[in-house]
Amino acid sequence: MEYNNIIVETRGRVGLITLNRPKALNALNDQLIDEVGHALGGFENDENIGAIVITGSEKAFAAGADIGAMASYSHMDAYKGDYITRNWERLKTCRKPIIAAVAGFALGGGCELAMMCDMIFAADTAKFGQPEIKLGVLPGAGGTQRLPRAIGKAKAMDMCLTARMIDATEAERAGLVARVVPAERLVDEAIEAATVIAGFSLPVVMMIKESVNRAFESSLNEGLLFERRTFHSAFGLDDQKEGMAAFVEKRKPVFKHR
Ligand code: CAA
Repeated sequence: MEYNNIIVETRGRVGLITLNRPKALNALNDQLIDEVGHALGGFENDENIGAIVITGSEKAFAAGADIGAMASYSHMDAYKGDYITRNWERLKTCRKPIIAAVAGFALGGGCELAMMCDMIFAADTAKFGQPEIKLGVLPGAGGTQRLPRAIGKAKAMDMCLTARMIDATEAERAGLVARVVPAERLVDEAIEAATVIAGFSLPVVMMIKESVNRAFESSLNEGLLFERRTFHSAFGLDDQKEGMAAFVEKRKPVFKHR
C-alpha cells in the first residue's frame, strides 16, 4: 500500500507511525485510518517488531475526524457506512503494544485514537478534548466510553459536555496519560519505552496486554480467573525458564520469543 497520510519507519525493534496530514492538523479521514491499519498489520506480522509508537506533529497529534469529509453526511451515509469506527478495528485488534506519543492537539477522534492505544505519553504541549458537542454531534469513536473508564465520570462529563480541553498536567493527574515529558523528548521517550517492552518475551507482553484489557471487559472475579489461567500458561514458555534462571544466576535473560 502506498502511504500518503502517514510515515512508517522502524527504530530497532520498534515500529513508528507518524500521522502526516499537516495542512489539516492530521484530521482523521478514511484514507489515513486505512493506512494506519495497514501499517499496524505489517508491524504485527513482522517478527522483528516488538512494540509500536503512533505519533503526530508538534502542533497536533490529530485534531479529530475530518469535519469537511463528514459535514454533508446523511444519517443513512453514516449508518450504512458504519461511520466512523468501521475501519478503526485494526487498532483494537493489534496484539502488540501501542504507545500514543501526543504533542499538541488530541481532539475528538484524535483523543479517541490515543485512547485506543495501550498507553499515552504526552508532551507538555498536549491538549486533550472531546469538542464534538460544538459541532452538533457526540464522540463517535469511544470518547463517551473509554474516557470515563480512564478518568472517571465527572471529568469525562465535563470534557464531553462543555468541550473543555485539558492540558498534559491535568490529563496525567486524571489518569489519561502515563507520562508527561518535554515536547522535544516526546518521541525519543516513547521509543525508549517501546524498546524496553520489545526486549521482553513477546508472548508475555501480549499476555499482559490481553489481561489488562480484560479488566475493562469483565467482573473482577472473571478477570482474576483469566489472569491466573494466563499466568499458569506462562510456565509453558521457554522464556519463563530463561527469565527465572537468569535471575538465579545473576545474569541478564536472553528471551527467545521476541
Ligand atoms: N477536520 C478537518 N480539518 C481540520 C480539522 C478537522 N477536525 N481540524 C483542523 N482542521 C484544518 C482547519 O480547517 C484548517 O484548514 P485550512 O488551513 O485549510 O483552513 C487547518 O486544519 C488548521 O486549523 P486552524 O486554522 O483551525 O488552526 P488553529 O490553530 O486556529 O486551531 C484547532 C486549531 C483548535 C484544533 C481547530 O482547528 C479546531 O477546533 N479543529 C476542530 C477540532 C474538532 O472539532 N474535532 C472534533 C472533530 S469531530 C470528531 O472527531 C468525531 C468523532 O468522535 C470521531
